[in-house]
Amino acid sequence: MKEKPAIGVFGAGWVGLVTGACFAELGYDVVVRDVIPERIEQLRDGRVPLHEPGLGELLEQNRERLAFTTELDEIVSRPILFVCVGTPPTYSGDADLSAVWTVVDQLPALQERAILVMKSTVPVGTGEKVRAALDARGLAHVGYVSNPEFLAEGSAVRDFMNPDRVVVGAFAEADSEVVAGLYEPLEASVVRADVASAEMIKLAANAFLMTRISFINEIANVCEATGADVEQVAKGVGLDHRLGPHFLRAGIGWGGSCFPKDGVALKQLASNSGYHFQLLSAVIEVNDLQKRRVIGKLEKHLGKLRGKKVALLGLAFKPNTDDLREAPSLVLASRLLAEGAEVRAWDPVADASRLLQGVTFCGSVLDAVSGADAAVIVTEWDELQGLASEEVRGAMRNALIVDGRNLLDPEHARAAGFVYEGIGRAASPLEALPETEEREPQLEA
Ligand code: UDX
Repeated sequence: MKEKPAIGVFGAGWVGLVTGACFAELGYDVVVRDVIPERIEQLRDGRVPLHEPGLGELLEQNRERLAFTTELDEIVSRPILFVCVGTPPTYSGDADLSAVWTVVDQLPALQERAILVMKSTVPVGTGEKVRAALDARGLAHVGYVSNPEFLAEGSAVRDFMNPDRVVVGAFAEADSEVVAGLYEPLEASVVRADVASAEMIKLAANAFLMTRISFINEIANVCEATGADVEQVAKGVGLDHRLGPHFLRAGIGWGGSCFPKDGVALKQLASNSGYHFQLLSAVIEVNDLQKRRVIGKLEKHLGKLRGKKVALLGLAFKPNTDDLREAPSLVLASRLLAEGAEVRAWDPVADASRLLQGVTFCGSVLDAVSGADAAVIVTEWDELQGLASEEVRGAMRNALIVDGRNLLDPEHARAAGFVYEGIGRAASPLEALPETEEREPQLEA
């Protein structure tokens, strides 16, 4: 049997930890290095610093093959070095590659052959620049491979273990062989490409997914204006084998650590190269507006929002994660506060208390909706499936649900005595909301 090469992973963030834990599970000896000592301490103590289903179990089961360190020396002797550091946006929208360059610049004068494998999402052309920098430092024997990740939060372990494809972009055939070989136990389809194309595959895949979401969200908005139901439309469209059913869930828009930053980074990359990527610009703008449409739905039924109590249910940018990066909940909460509403928020895992001032955080759904004029489903957590209950209705001042994720069955919610507004679904008539003393006259549209 071939001996498995030892792996080093730069970055103990979400991508680095999932990558490290999964390779350990596949039998590789892995060391994960991070510059934050507390994070490494936590991991050594068996504590997982983020919420990702299955990750804790993998880290635990593979303890003897997984080490965590802050020391550069303990990682750079390994033949495979994955780069899984953050590439956040700069003020200009370009990706900030300082953490990537720190890794490259810190590599010592390696005697042995090694391969630097880029998993971080980087602009097209980064590999070329890193290659030149390595060559200039006399490290021509260090290979460079682009191997982007396609992991979705909340299902990252499953995505890693069952990839649709593994993309390997290399300058040298031999490096491509080695990196593709690491994934052999997964029996996945491997797409071999040049480095620039591998970098673009990642950006294009994300942009296409975002385009689908903004597309269905605009269809939803037209459905609202014309009386169609986007859920039925998405089903009918998605069954066309040329289109497929995925990423056609209408809602209040995307958030997260990837789409917002990678979308802007691709738009910026294009414009830096002299091309105006009009479609992507529109896709991003549609998403920005989509997050705010909930306000209009609330005003339709409640009039001015000053003094109104609104329960935001779910804060994470999607279920099964505690990630609040670019979450629509943050925009929504800020807009509601700006309108003078009282915001009560609930999420089973995400803690937004440091990000949102002036919001009341509640320990349960019932607490959040208590005395509320409206309940807004922001994240489709399982716990919210039963929201349209008698108990919740009894606790609310106005039985209004705005379902930002089309989680509930409208018929059921209405039968349970709620006024229900979804996204791209037939709207509730205005008069359906029982009058309360606090209710003010309707705002003009
Ligand atoms: C995404 C990509 O899926 C992944 O391949 C990439 O590596 C990182 O970015 P992630 O951000 O974790 O992963 O979540 P994803 O499940 O793709 O959802 C992104 C956002 O789109 C969420 O806010 C989600 O609510 C929203 N979404 C998704 C929709 O609004 N409608 C859909 O149909 C699908």
